[in-house]
Amino acid sequence: MSRAFNFSAGPATLPEPVLRQVQAELLEWKGERASVMELSHRGQAFIDCAAAAERDLRELMAIPDDYHALFLQGGATTLAALLPLNLAGPDQVADYVITGHWGEKAIENARPSIRTHVAASARDSGYASIPPRDQWRLTPGAAFVHYTPNETIHGVEFQDIPDVGDVPLVADVSSNILSCPIDVSRFGVLYGGAQKNLGPAGLTLAIVRKDLLGKHGRDLPPIFDLANQASNDSMFNTPPTFAWYMLGLVLQWLKAQGGAAAIGQRNARKAAKLYSAIDGSGGYYRNPVATNARSRMNVPFFLADAALDRPFLHEASAAGLLGLKGHRALGGMRASIYNAMPEAGVQALVDFMADFLRRNG
Ligand SMILES: Cc1ncc(COP(=O)(O)O)c(C=O)c1O
Repeated sequence: MSRAFNFSAGPATLPEPVLRQVQAELLEWKGERASVMELSHRGQAFIDCAAAAERDLRELMAIPDDYHALFLQGGATTLAALLPLNLAGPDQVADYVITGHWGEKAIENARPSIRTHVAASARDSGYASIPPRDQWRLTPGAAFVHYTPNETIHGVEFQDIPDVGDVPLVADVSSNILSCPIDVSRFGVLYGGAQKNLGPAGLTLAIVRKDLLGKHGRDLPPIFDLANQASNDSMFNTPPTFAWYMLGLVLQWLKAQGGAAAIGQRNARKAAKLYSAIDGSGGYYRNPVATNARSRMNVPFFLADAALDRPFLHEASAAGLLGLKGHRALGGMRASIYNAMPEAGVQALVDFMADFLRRNG
């Protein structure tokens, strides 16, 4: 057995008990004498599996009844393009609050179909902080306000939900979904790819307040109209069945861990341990993000001497610590410490960092 601690930003580490269960039932699933991958999404066995995953998601996130939970394909990027088409007419304005790379991508994907407005951006600070709420220039009557509660590359995370009045708040939660309790009723839409906190790549979740769909007044291809997925239990076309099944297992694992509150406490402990190792290194390691905007999920850090980046990564890998290379846009390192990263993994990382500093500092 040579599984390492995997700090990849996504696709990312998955709970080992889930992988073992998948391995055990890969060939024959639930007495079906076939793999779950080989069965029709219209068959009762898969319909039951899909419904159970939705029930568990609703329970874990306390999703109110007036919200759809959609299980889609295309990744967060496709949703960043589809949501504007579904939530706003061509002449309507939507506000974007941009605190990193993924906020920029979201507005790029919206521009061809709606009028976009940058209500606030932290670009000038190098995306190392969150513009204070009282400096946002929101458009009265906007169709929605879009933001990214956790910016995966820049390691910037909102510590609370911004108040935008009655305008629906649309949040890309790809990298922090179900990492702690969240009040879904404060949002119009929560969306994100599953491949970081909840499962393998291929499945995209959208939790959408029901009254927001079906009002766009556009002549959309039916597959782009999310109301069609909503009225067909996310099976308007073939869903990503294997990813949906695996997400269901991850949700069961999350319930066994004690749910969102318990996993949130564990995530807070992991992040505190890692930031404390960085901040306590006397400048040898550095995280550039304002302390009130630091992410609990993605921790970028830089070595004082970038010439040591390569040896750091090489030796980390030899020590069983994978996926620490920073995003190419920033360089340096990044440790993604999603739900499935055990506390022992973070401990192993901080031990390695201390040892590397001793030998090279
Ligand atoms: C916050 C955020 N949004 C969007 C994306 C893009 O997601 P996808 O590749 O699923 O389209 C990512 C991927 O890393 C992300 O972290």
